[in-house]
Amino acid sequence: MTTLLHVDASVRAVKNDNPDHDSISKNIAKHFIDSFAKRQAIDEYFYRDVGVNPPSFITQDWIGAVFTPDDKKTAEQHQLLALSDTLIAEIAAADIIVISSPMYNYGMPAQLKAWFDQVIRINQTFDFDLSRGDFPLQPLLDGKILVVITSTGEFGFEQGGIREHMSHLVPHLRTLSKYLGVSTIHEIASEYQEFADVRHQLSLDNAYSQAAVLGGQLSNQ
Ligand SMILES: Cc1cc2nc3c(=O)[nH]c(=O)nc-3n(C[C@H](O)[C@H](O)[C@H](O)COP(=O)(O)O)c2cc1C
Repeated sequence: MTTLLHVDASVRAVKNDNPDHDSISKNIAKHFIDSFAKRQAIDEYFYRDVGVNPPSFITQDWIGAVFTPDDKKTAEQHQLLALSDTLIAEIAAADIIVISSPMYNYGMPAQLKAWFDQVIRINQTFDFDLSRGDFPLQPLLDGKILVVITSTGEFGFEQGGIREHMSHLVPHLRTLSKYLGVSTIHEIASEYQEFADVRHQLSLDNAYSQAAVLGGQLSNQ
């Protein structure tokens, strides 16, 4: 039994009339999933294109609802949390989570951050206990595999790379992933999109190959 949650974050579509406008991150994620599904059935598949259909931003009332005990919540508060409940249920059910994301302004798109704000929720995905000292937050889920697929216009965001200090996309996703219950992370990055040169083509080809190999590896586990 495999349940897969697939979250895409680019505002660009997988296919466009002009193929130069196709989302790189979405297409690599699709390649990973196709490679996986060729070898192993996906029993349940949840898909969220948060780039095109962003979750709403949280509000003060939303926070108020989160901190109201379940048996005291009003119907309106339940309604306010309905999307969050659904998104969290998808995470809880998933064995594998695939997040594809472009880099926008050196970090994740606001749309993807909105999804994280909806799902990293007290007593649902983490709990909070001051008796734990300086680290009171503890994840409530575990054992999940995360596949992170990113596309950037520039390059050198990896450890030791020339833009490592400007890299707020993958490091942020790594930090947040533990609150999704992630135990293992696989990362695939395509770089150089803005240079449109041979380095971009090589990086893209390499990302597609890695996605195919990883799809095969994870389907055998
Ligand atoms: C609003 C916006 C901001 C961007 N900011 C950055 C950036 O800070 N660093 C970078 O390397 N590329 C940046 N890019 C380039 C994208 O990361 C690149 O085009 C990537 O391929 C987009 O992902 P997609 O092909 O899946 O849509 C930006 C693109 C857009 C549209």
